[in-house]
Amino acid sequence: MAVTFALPKAAPFLIEQDYASYSCEQHGIWAELVRRQMPQLERHAAQEYLDGFDALCLPYDRLPNLAAVSARLQSRTGWNATPVSGFMPAGAFFEMLACRRFPTTTWLRNRESLDYTPEPDIFHDVFGHVPMHAHPVFADFLAYYGRLCSGLEDAAILERIGRVFWYTVEFGLIRQGGEVKVYGSGLISSNGECANVLHSGCTVRPFVLDEVLRTPVKVDEMHHLLFAIESFDEIYEAMHTIEDRIDRGSRLDD
Ligand SMILES: [Fe+2]
Repeated sequence: MAVTFALPKAAPFLIEQDYASYSCEQHGIWAELVRRQMPQLERHAAQEYLDGFDALCLPYDRLPNLAAVSARLQSRTGWNATPVSGFMPAGAFFEMLACRRFPTTTWLRNRESLDYTPEPDIFHDVFGHVPMHAHPVFADFLAYYGRLCSGLEDAAILERIGRVFWYTVEFGLIRQGGEVKVYGSGLISSNGECANVLHSGCTVRPFVLDEVLRTPVKVDEMHHLLFAIESFDEIYEAMHTIEDRIDRGSRLDD
């Protein structure tokens, strides 16, 4: 198959979304998650996220059909929300990003876990991530990230670049209209994380690449420090800078 040929590392993880198998209860959980999160996002999400959400016509009242979402996304930026079976090795993940296919889980948290899931589910992946992929510069940045990382093998260098992913794609902030807005999926898809950053004293510093590269990721606690860009051009340019440094032999640890 063409997909297997194009994605040799990721192919074993590609699945179909069995949309008909979602229950009424699951569609209701999706609707409740959206209903709980939207007031916060209408006030505090980046405009580009809200524009993407509208452009992709993400449903409020039922789980999204990934084929329909991808059809709208593909015509805008060439990106696609591709169903995968779950956690993927880094090489397969980077390979998919480089091909503008976002690895998208199809399972949904249950009603007892509305606030938190240790593994990403379809709410985190589609509600949280996918709207940003409709923005041309963010879309190019994410593909650039995948392309660059898929050509690297040094684990220490990849860990450093992973910090850029963490502080942008997952927990990114942007200044708009004199306010800090959220665009990272870990914030968009989590009421608690979002509230922590906006109202509980999380320090927000300007996105300075060297500081981001020096700041380790902490996955099991609320953030005390995050970084705000002024425009999405900054993170695209950051990838250029990283690539130049690697080409000149830097290990990104200076
Ligand atoms: Fe994520």
